[in-house]
Order: sequence, then structure tokens, then C-alpha cells
Amino acid sequence: MMEAQFLFFRSCPAVLKGCVFFGNYNQQGAFQMMKSVKAAMLATTMVAMSLTAHAAETPSVALGKKLFNDPSLGGAAGAKTCASCHPNGKGVENAWKNPNLAKQINTCILGALKGKPLPLESVEMKSLVLYHQSLKPASIKP
Ligand code: HEC
Repeated sequence: MMEAQFLFFRSCPAVLKGCVFFGNYNQQGAFQMMKSVKAAMLATTMVAMSLTAHAAETPSVALGKKLFNDPSLGGAAGAKTCASCHPNGKGVENAWKNPNLAKQINTCILGALKGKPLPLESVEMKSLVLYHQSLKPASIKP
């Protein structure tokens, strides 16, 4: 609100009458503010953010598998992937039992891949958890 008022008054420095006019008509005042470059940039950022949110992928086993085989997981720069040590999920068949699976995955991203932990609520993390859950032995064909 302080910011908005600052922009508002800066956008019409001398014409006080105009300020009073815009002050009385809120919608006009808002329109005037939108004309300032700063406000326009903010609006653009907000639109971009909402578009990104809408375009977000749905968590899936397929995406989890892809990330499990992706050397850049968590922004890591090395050549290793999760699958380097767990080919086709070997060694993580019982990970679905782990109540802290997401944290365990982050520990491996951090320690084994030298990457950055993923946000627990991210599509990437949810997908990795789904992939691990899909490795439950009962669902593995002999
Ligand atoms: C350098 C080899 C290596 C890499 C790379 C690696 N891991 Fe591991 N991982 C291990 C070892 C060793 C263990 C420990 C097995 C044990 O508990 O005895 C382990 C354990 C785990 C477990 C726990 C298994 C369980 O039963 O609870 C999970 C889950 C896991 N890794 C996932 C991952 C994921 C996801 C990645 C990629 C981000 C990854 N690992 C990368 C070697 C690796």
C-alpha cells in the first residue's frame, strides 16, 4: 500500500488537482499506477508466475523414472544418476516402506549426486516418490 501510494504520487508530481482526481476515483488511480514501468513489470511477473503454476506438470511415475536417470537432478553437474547405483531401481525396492522417503531421496541427491535437495512439495519430488513406490516388489514382474 505504501509502495502503491509512492508510485501514485510520483506519477503525477506537479498536477495536484490530477492526484486528487485520481485519489477520488480509485479505478482511475489504479489505471494510472499501472502505467508506471515498475507496476507493469510487477504485473508481467505475476502473470508469468500464474502461467508457470498452471503449466506445472502432474506428478507421475514416468517423470520420476526420467529424473532417476537424469544426471542433472537437483542441479548436479556430475555424470552420476540415481540409476548409476540403483540400476532399474535395484536396492530401493523397499524404499516405499520408508515414511521419510522424500527426505531419503534428498539425502541421496545431496550426498550421492552432489545436487541441491528438492522442495518436498515439488512435482519432481512427488514424481520420484511415485517412482520409488512403483518399485514395490508385488508390482514387479518376475
Ligand atoms: C554412489 C551410489 C549411489 C547413488 C548415485 C545413489 N544412491 Fe541411493 N543408495 C546408495 C547406497 C549405498 C544406499 C544404502 C543402501 C543401504 O541402506 O544399505 C542407498 C540408499 C538409498 C535409498 C534407501 C533405500 C531404502 O530401502 O530405504 C533410497 C530411497 C535411495 N538410495 C535413493 C536414491 C536416489 C533417489 C538417488 C538419486 C538421487 C540415489 N539413491 C543415488 C547408493 C547410491
